[in-house]
Amino acid sequence: MTGVHLREITDENRDAVCALRVRKHQRKFVASVSCSLEDAADEPEENPWYRAVYSGEEPVGFVMVSLPDSDGRFYLWRLLIDKRHQGRGIGREVLAQIVDTVRSEGGSELFTSYEPGKGAPGPFYRKFGFEPTGEIDDGEIVLKLSLR
Ligand SMILES: CC(C)(COP(=O)(O)OP(=O)(O)OC[C@H]1O[C@@H](n2cnc3c(N)ncnc32)[C@H](O)[C@@H]1OP(=O)(O)O)[C@@H](O)C(=O)NCCC(=O)NCCS
Repeated sequence: MTGVHLREITDENRDAVCALRVRKHQRKFVASVSCSLEDAADEPEENPWYRAVYSGEEPVGFVMVSLPDSDGRFYLWRLLIDKRHQGRGIGREVLAQIVDTVRSEGGSELFTSYEPGKGAPGPFYRKFGFEPTGEIDDGEIVLKLSLR
């Protein structure tokens, strides 16, 4: 997918990125951008690295990764694509770019987790190659992508 890229969040784009929204039934699967920025500030020990997702000049999503977290795991912490831009391959392209970032930081595995339920992102991650580890963390299904 061309034109999808990650940009730093600054005073110029913060409000537009915080205004991004998922569908109502998806809210239980991901925190808002504002809440994620607060979590990043509150939990520096988790090494949060976050970016706005752009399609051309338009902010369309948000991603946050631990590079790595306090357990030493490279962990995809938050990912959301605005409801108006879902289903166009943008989420998959963001995962590909995050994999490049994790590799460049020396990671060989990327973890994530999701809350099970109708409309949960499990199939999205499985299609990309993530596999369940068998762990359940705080009710969430833990997945791992091998980067070797
Ligand atoms: C999950 C999410 C990031 C996917 O982004 P997206 O840009 O819509 O996904 P893509 O268009 O790149 O989809 C890639 C593939 O995954 C599939 N897919 C995406 N979301 C899916 C879902 N919830 N259930 C089943 N399949 C899904 C797509 O159909 C596509 O399949 P294909 O390759 O066979 O065509 C986005 O829907 C979102 O923000 N959801 C709400 C928040 C959320 O759940 N975030 C994850 C928190 S753990």
